[in-house]
Amino acid sequence: MKHFKAIAAMSLNRVIGAGNKIPWHLPEDFKWFKQMTSGNVVIMGRKTFESLGKPLPNRINIVLSRHPGRLQRDFPEAFGDAWVGRGKTHFPEKPTQFELPKIGGVATVDLRIIKDFLKLDPASSPLEFFIAGGAQIYEQALPWCSDLYLTLVKHEVAGGDAFFPPFEDKFDLVETVRDEPEFKIQHYRHRSLQP
Ligand SMILES: NC(=O)c1ccc[n+]([C@@H]2O[C@H](COP(=O)([O-])OP(=O)(O)OC[C@H]3O[C@@H](n4cnc5c(N)ncnc54)[C@H](OP(=O)(O)O)[C@@H]3O)[C@@H](O)[C@H]2O)c1
Repeated sequence: MKHFKAIAAMSLNRVIGAGNKIPWHLPEDFKWFKQMTSGNVVIMGRKTFESLGKPLPNRINIVLSRHPGRLQRDFPEAFGDAWVGRGKTHFPEKPTQFELPKIGGVATVDLRIIKDFLKLDPASSPLEFFIAGGAQIYEQALPWCSDLYLTLVKHEVAGGDAFFPPFEDKFDLVETVRDEPEFKIQHYRHRSLQP
């Protein structure tokens, strides 16, 4: 089975968001995110998608919502032709029901559907599936992530309302990819979930 990878940035006091925005501006970290995720699949929660306002270019965007019809209504340009799944997994009875959109396309589904898709569809194997937030989605998906690329922003953020969940008991640090005065990028691996 293929596993997800998570990519995130948190402050020293574990803040990842405030007022549905990322509370810092680090262009170099955005470049890193773009470099890692371009050509692959990004999986995000509906609130994170709303904060972006449109799908990320050159990637397959999967937006998780329990009310996908609302996303279609509120973002007709993005979701007009999107694959829209309801709250229940349809697998394994109809394994072909969910097909990945092409690069640049979007889908909106329940997290379980995409998890089952990873189990069943070998065609997904050339792509990496990045869990890209926010807090609710990291919390649910980290147990299924083989790798975590976590940018540690080297200051505390006041007024945060979205936090990165505890992960240290399940993951080991394997590499510091980059260390800058303002941030460092750390690569962690799940102790028991390796490809
Ligand atoms: N620093 C970073 O790396 C980073 C990365 C991404 C986001 N963020 C920040 O994180 C914050 C948003 O995080 P959040 O926790 O408030 O929201 P979120 O995780 O982005 O989205 C939550 C929504 O996702 C949907 N959802 C959750 N679990 C689901 C499941 N199992 N199946 C289907 N849909 C599911 C629900 O949408 P419905 O209500 O439509 O059902 C839920 O309201 C923002 O401040 C954002 O800027 C930070």
